[in-house]
Amino acid sequence: MFNIEKFDIKLDTEVIGRNFIYMEEVDSTNTFLLGSAKFNQNGTVVLAEEQLKGKGRLDRSWLSNADQNLTFSILLTEKIKPNRLNIINLGTSLIVAQSIENLYQLKVNLKWPNDVLVADKKIAGILLETTSMGSKIEKVVIGIGINVNQPNFPGKYLTPPTSIRREFKEAVDRERLLSEILNNFDEILPICIKEPDKILEDWKSRCNMFGEKIKVEDETGTRFGIFEDLDKEGHLIFKIDGNTEKIHFGDVSLRQ
Ligand code: BTN
Repeated sequence: MFNIEKFDIKLDTEVIGRNFIYMEEVDSTNTFLLGSAKFNQNGTVVLAEEQLKGKGRLDRSWLSNADQNLTFSILLTEKIKPNRLNIINLGTSLIVAQSIENLYQLKVNLKWPNDVLVADKKIAGILLETTSMGSKIEKVVIGIGINVNQPNFPGKYLTPPTSIRREFKEAVDRERLLSEILNNFDEILPICIKEPDKILEDWKSRCNMFGEKIKVEDETGTRFGIFEDLDKEGHLIFKIDGNTEKIHFGDVSLRQ
């Protein structure tokens, strides 16, 4: 069972996680925060031991064994401009990578837009969702799923999954990892807002797809081209048949 006291001692943030909600079970921590009128304090974090309807990107499910991993969401209710959402997405994957690397000395790479990979396998994913009132963003919910102590992953996956335990060869302290991530998120959030170029630069240094032939799968189908760059807002610049296109959503993989 997650030990809240042990986590709290290591939490060193101003706002993020100061309001902390622990749940044994919920449909999805993202859905919970998006729909809750009661829990609307900026920086609230909801952690669930089990999600019955965990959501992944592009309408997929996020499957995670109960009690072994980290499935949590961070709520932001302070004014955030739409052009910073992708940067926050990239910044979150960056601090998840840095936290895992610092604590367990694993080499962590990133795949656009926000997959966190160890040895080409997915160790964590991020789903950022918002609610708006007219053109104004009301809530930003950043859901993070990390495979921490799950020993195996039966079933079929687009990108093969792994867990920290599988790679580090030891069981991992979830309380320490969560506090490290929230401490780092607390620091990176103002950088996402004020210095997005810094986030892009650091994110790019962990992605090995630049200049490579890739496959893009999005709502329009499957296409092949070159992973050229990211634009200032974090969208993918994709070169296809001599032209460039911007990709806002979708999945990319190195062309086999
Ligand atoms: C992805 O890689 O497809 C994103 C996965 C995001 C999973 C997390 S787990 C906590 C939060 N609640 C959800 O329902 N999804 C996110």
